[in-house]
Amino acid sequence: MANAQKNSHEAIERNVALMIVLTLLTVSVGGLVEIVPLFFQHSLTKPVVHTKDAQGKPVEVEIKPYDALRLAGRDIYIREGCYNCHSQMVRPFRAETERYGHFSVAAESIYDHPFQWGSKRTGPDLARVGGRYSDSWHRDHLINPRSVVPDSNMPAFPWLDRPVDASMIKEKMQTLRIVGVPYTDAEIAAAPSALTGKSEMDALVAYLQGLGTALSNFK
Ligand code: HEC
Repeated sequence: MANAQKNSHEAIERNVALMIVLTLLTVSVGGLVEIVPLFFQHSLTKPVVHTKDAQGKPVEVEIKPYDALRLAGRDIYIREGCYNCHSQMVRPFRAETERYGHFSVAAESIYDHPFQWGSKRTGPDLARVGGRYSDSWHRDHLINPRSVVPDSNMPAFPWLDRPVDASMIKEKMQTLRIVGVPYTDAEIAAAPSALTGKSEMDALVAYLQGLGTALSNFK
């Protein structure tokens, strides 16, 4: 028996083509077994987070798509490269949850295309920054970070007081609908008017203030 096993293994090792085919087969089966179940796991595919309240009772929290203003703010966040210094992913470690709050769960970024998890943390993680500061704190901070955090080395973004560009907002929402964000026709039609009179600063601050708020009441 031991001898037969040795011989068959030897046959594989001596035949590169057979080795390649069997390796590919093993990796494919292993990959499918690990990846395919994720497509059917509700915690990863449904915009609902299951967590516990302060008394330990299970609660369900629904994740909502970004409204037009926050969506425009998200695009400014990406355009300005905020993700180069800020992650949006609280890892499930005590040091992180003590500082930032509830760890991030998959459903929270279900409407993010592309997601902003990141890993570079020159500045703090922003996944739960919503509601931590006032709107005017954010404005002051973005115009000149040193005015509120004297030692800050975050760059200033003083040009954000210009009007937000609403010309493509409907098309953006329509495109996001194709990849599964459930915007209604009415929401898309109303989007440009939601941006009238708003500055890029308004949009970015609205985006920041909404970050991670679905779960910020839970530990
Ligand atoms: C070059 C790196 C860098 C870039 C780019 C950057 N930041 Fe920061 N950010 C920092 C650092 C460092 C801090 C910590 C000091 C401070 O609060 O200013 C910070 C802090 C913050 C905070 C406060 C977080 C907290 O929990 O106290 C917010 C909000 C923020 N940044 C938003 C932004 C936004 C929005 C952008 C893009 C427009 C941006 N940052 C771009 C480095 C950066």
